[in-house]
Amino acid sequence: MDRITCVQNYVNRLLDTISDPGEHRTAAVHLYGVAGYACLLCLRRGLDPELGTVCGLLHDISTYATGDSRQHAGRSAGMARSCLKGSGMFTQEEISAVCNAVAHHSDKDAQHEPLDEVLKDADVIHHCLHNPSHQPSEKDAARWQRLLDELR
Ligand SMILES: [Fe+2]
Repeated sequence: MDRITCVQNYVNRLLDTISDPGEHRTAAVHLYGVAGYACLLCLRRGLDPELGTVCGLLHDISTYATGDSRQHAGRSAGMARSCLKGSGMFTQEEISAVCNAVAHHSDKDAQHEPLDEVLKDADVIHHCLHNPSHQPSEKDAARWQRLLDELR
């Protein structure tokens, strides 16, 4: 099994515990959507698209596993670590890179490592493109404007 499929299986098992169909759909669309955007941004910025995809798949996993979004970045990073370690398919360096990106992804006003910034940007792209007739939220607006300048 390849590494992305392995992580997708982990995510899918968690998603399948969500009994409400609407919540299940929202979670799946968001995690897979952010994963795709993160992959694309990695390709554009010369980073590893596989690690970007993994970051997107795992970044909010704690929220969807527990229904509690408090401190979800740090909690999702902990779950990401056990997923990636348990798979035996990722190096220690890769696990640290993904977990740091997941841990930092709510801190959108700060600047972190390039992979961390990819994940924050992919999250904002999904928020803004999920329904383009909605205005970006105040916290996403500056980052969204920078992304439009980069991608246009
Ligand atoms: Fe997210």
